[in-house]
Amino acid sequence: MSEKSQLITELESLQQQAEKELAGLNNEDALQKWHTQYLGRSAMVMQIFKRLAEASKEERPLIGQFANQVKDALETQLSQKLETVKQSALQANLKSEQLDVTLPGRKPPRGRLHIQTTVLREIIHIFAEMGFQVFRTTEVESDEFNFELLNIPAYHPARDLWDTFYTTKEGVILRTHTSPGQVRSMRTFHPDPIRVILPGMCYRYEQMDASHEIQFNQVEVLVVGKDITFANMKGTLEEFARRMYGKDVRTRIRPSYFPFTEPSGEMDVECFVCGGEGCSVCSGKGWLEILGCGMVHPVVLKNGGYDPEVYSGFAAGLGIERISMLRYRIDDIRNFWGNDLRFLEQF
Ligand code: PHE
Repeated sequence: MSEKSQLITELESLQQQAEKELAGLNNEDALQKWHTQYLGRSAMVMQIFKRLAEASKEERPLIGQFANQVKDALETQLSQKLETVKQSALQANLKSEQLDVTLPGRKPPRGRLHIQTTVLREIIHIFAEMGFQVFRTTEVESDEFNFELLNIPAYHPARDLWDTFYTTKEGVILRTHTSPGQVRSMRTFHPDPIRVILPGMCYRYEQMDASHEIQFNQVEVLVVGKDITFANMKGTLEEFARRMYGKDVRTRIRPSYFPFTEPSGEMDVECFVCGGEGCSVCSGKGWLEILGCGMVHPVVLKNGGYDPEVYSGFAAGLGIERISMLRYRIDDIRNFWGNDLRFLEQF
């Protein structure tokens, strides 16, 4: 009898101890250890079965039964505890990684048009309203179109004005101005009258400084027809300046020289920083140059397929960075292609 109470007492205190410990556990690892300790192969509860031999024959079933009850009870409690531990871990997780679907989304950064694209479009728009079409010509040009056909033969001193980048292929260069497009469009539209603008990037071999870049945009203006006069040119360019800078802007055309126009001129607009009085922006002149222009040279007309005895025309080349610089008071041309967002985001 005493042996029976001995084993049962042991089991009872074991159960008490196990339950007490279990109550204090709060994670899966600890529960796993607890399982090994109290219900594993070498755990005491399991050892009791081996020790049944110590008890008398009659007592053995009772002790065995009791040991089984203890084992079942502990297992049940373990699985319950495991469930609560898992649940609270899940809750903690949900709480710490809470996702508020009602928060406003993060805006992806939006791009914008480059200032020169915007200005170019504005210029195209102004000329479109005067009946001009856009004619696209190539940026990689031949020496022939960039110089020869524009009345600038090899070794002509005027070539110094348009030093360029040469490719390794002979006669293939980057265009120094949009003027080669004059001959290209004449050959395309010949013998019809022409009223086109040719926008695009040009390249020059330059020493870069605040007003010189190795790349820049130009818009070429070309009109060819019968009875086209200098007055037509002046009227068109003045109208452009008024639309670009305001209807009261004053302009002037000074005589100049280009091998592909005769006579040639350069158009200035009144400096709107000082209003013509002279300041640092216009270097004291009161005027700012925005374009070169002139009546298309007979040689160029002929190269385009038009008889200079019958046809005449005018052309102009507008410096687009120059036009934006004046309009937005940008003091360094290198800003345009420097890719600095602090500059670009202002427009
Ligand atoms: N192509 C000239 C330049 O780049 C500008 C120009 C164009 C002058 C058309 C006259 C006529 O300097």
